[in-house]
Amino acid sequence: MSAILRVEGLVKVHGQEPSAQTVLRGVDFELEAGRFACVMGPSGSGKSTLLHLISGLDEPTAGRVELAGRDLARLGAAARTVLRREEVGYVFQFFHLLPNLTVEENVGLPLAIQGRSASEVDAAVAPLLARFGIGARSHAFPHQLSGGEMQRTSIARALAGGQPLLLCDEPTGNLSQKAGLEVMRTLREVCDRDGRSVLLVTHNPRDATFADEVRFLVDGEISTERVLRGPGLAVEAVHEALAALAI
Ligand SMILES: Nc1ncnc2c1ncn2[C@@H]1O[C@H](COP(=O)(O)OP(=O)(O)OP(=O)(O)O)[C@@H](O)[C@H]1O
Ligand SMILES: [Mg+2]
Repeated sequence: MSAILRVEGLVKVHGQEPSAQTVLRGVDFELEAGRFACVMGPSGSGKSTLLHLISGLDEPTAGRVELAGRDLARLGAAARTVLRREEVGYVFQFFHLLPNLTVEENVGLPLAIQGRSASEVDAAVAPLLARFGIGARSHAFPHQLSGGEMQRTSIARALAGGQPLLLCDEPTGNLSQKAGLEVMRTLREVCDRDGRSVLLVTHNPRDATFADEVRFLVDGEISTERVLRGPGLAVEAVHEALAALAI
C-alpha cells in the first residue's frame, strides 16, 4: 500500500508577533491510498488549517506535506495549483457552489478547467448526477436546492475531475440529521466503490463512525496514543475517546 498523503512535523503559526498564534505544533499523519480517515478536534483546534496546508492553499511555517509522492514545498505556486487540481477534491461545510452556475455546470467545472470538450464534460457529468440523485435537478441553480442536494452536488464536483483524494471539512455541518447521514453514506461509498481516499475533519461523532480510522487533534498535535479503528465504529466509542481527551 502506498500513501496518498504524508504529513511530517507540520507547524503552522497564524499571524505575526505579538499576536502570532501557533495552531499546529508538529502534526504527523499518513493516509494510505483508498482509505477513509477522520481527524477530530474541537472548534479552533486547526482542522481547517490542516486541510488548507495539505491542499497547498496555505503554506506551513515548518514541516512538510507530501501529496501523491510530491513534496509541496518543492513545487512553485503554479505547479502546486496543478497538483491540487489533479489530486484533490474539496467538500466544504458551506458547499462553495458557484451561485450563477447550474448543478451540471458546477459539477462539470473541474473538467472544463482541465480543458475537456463540452461533450466530454457532459459524458462524465450525467452519470455522476444520476448516481447522486440530482439528475432531475441538473438545470437548477444552487439557491433552488436543499442542503443535501447542494452537498451531493459538491461531492459530485469533487469527484468529477477524477481526483484520488477527497478532503472534507465538516461536510454535514450545515445539514439535517437525515441529509447528513445520506452524505456520509455517499462518502463511504466513494471510498469503497471508487477507491478514492477520504480525509474528513469534523467534530461530529456520528460522522466519524464512517471512517477506517479516527485520530484526534489535541493542542496542535495528532495524538498517537488514541486511534480508533473502523469502519463500523460505535458512536459511543467516539464519545468515550472525546471525553477521555477532554475535547
Ligand atoms: N488565515 C488565518 N489567519 C489568522 N488566524 C487564523 C487563520 N485561519 C485560522 N486562524 C485561526 O487558527 C485557529 C484554528 O482555526 P481553524 O479554522 O483551523 O480551526 P477549526 O478546527 O477548523 O475550527 P472549526 O471547528 O470551528 O471549523 C483559530 O483560532 C483561527 O482563528
Ligand atoms: Mg474548520
